[in-house]
Amino acid sequence: MDTIISLKQIQTITKELHKTGKTIGFIPTMGALHDGHLKLVQESKAKNDVTIVSIFVNPAQFSPTEDLAKYPRPFEHDKKLLAKEKVDYLFYPDPKTMYPNGFQTFVTPTELSNVLEGKIRPNHFTGVATVVLKLFNLIKPTNSYFGQKDFQQSVVIKQMIRDLNLPIAINIVPTVRDKDGLALSSRNIFLNPQERVQALGLYQSLLLGKKLILEGNKNVLTIKTRMKDYLKINKLVRLDYIEICDQENLSTFQVVPKKAVVLIAAYVGKTRLIDNLII
Ligand code: PAJ
Repeated sequence: MDTIISLKQIQTITKELHKTGKTIGFIPTMGALHDGHLKLVQESKAKNDVTIVSIFVNPAQFSPTEDLAKYPRPFEHDKKLLAKEKVDYLFYPDPKTMYPNGFQTFVTPTELSNVLEGKIRPNHFTGVATVVLKLFNLIKPTNSYFGQKDFQQSVVIKQMIRDLNLPIAINIVPTVRDKDGLALSSRNIFLNPQERVQALGLYQSLLLGKKLILEGNKNVLTIKTRMKDYLKINKLVRLDYIEICDQENLSTFQVVPKKAVVLIAAYVGKTRLIDNLII
């Protein structure tokens, strides 16, 4: 596996790959890799001639009060994991390379930025869409892989692909979970043992929501209330939101939509976690 840090070099490599007609699978990440990330890599390896992974902790998607400085960066360990998966290229630019002095052009998904995560994290999806578009422009992948775990992010990326006519196929990979059901996340390492136990409440309340819907409950408010009540036993969990939305555009309704997704976001201690289940 070659590690590439310069824009020019990654562009030269991908240009050569395009000339030879090879398919490129691309997985953007912020590192601190776990089995969820590696699942995306494996999907790409199975379906493309060449697989490229990027590791870039993107400052543009963190607000000043968020955990940018604290975000884990175990680079050597990540590199080993990717080499073991036989990734062809690791793209690892630094912030000054991606955002040189004078940088000023951003991509903003207007409506999707204002709901769920976007409401709580202003500018987050502008940062995500901008960096992903930049990476797509540098690599021009055939396929790109995203996790269902960050459901709203996957909707934002699919919308950007449609709106900006990008010739890239977006593949959404189901959430990889720990044995007990907790969604794998780079932030789980911040949980102390007590918090780790209570973090499972997020997944369990999603399961309750799913069960209620599958049993025929249609009233969104009732389902959300039952889920919130269920979570109350976990004193270390501070809920940001529970929502039941349309899978395609994240609209909310009073009645559960046909293709629904149940989403949850909460602090467990000082760590903010998100999860979701497709119904
Ligand atoms: P990061 O949080 O590192 O996640 C990289 C990719 O891994 C995302 O597509 C995410 O949804 C996926 N992922 C994370 N946990 C997962 C799990 N448990 N199961 C399956 N997939 C999982 O998401 C980002 O980085 C950034 O916003 C990025 C897209 C790289 C832009 O900066």
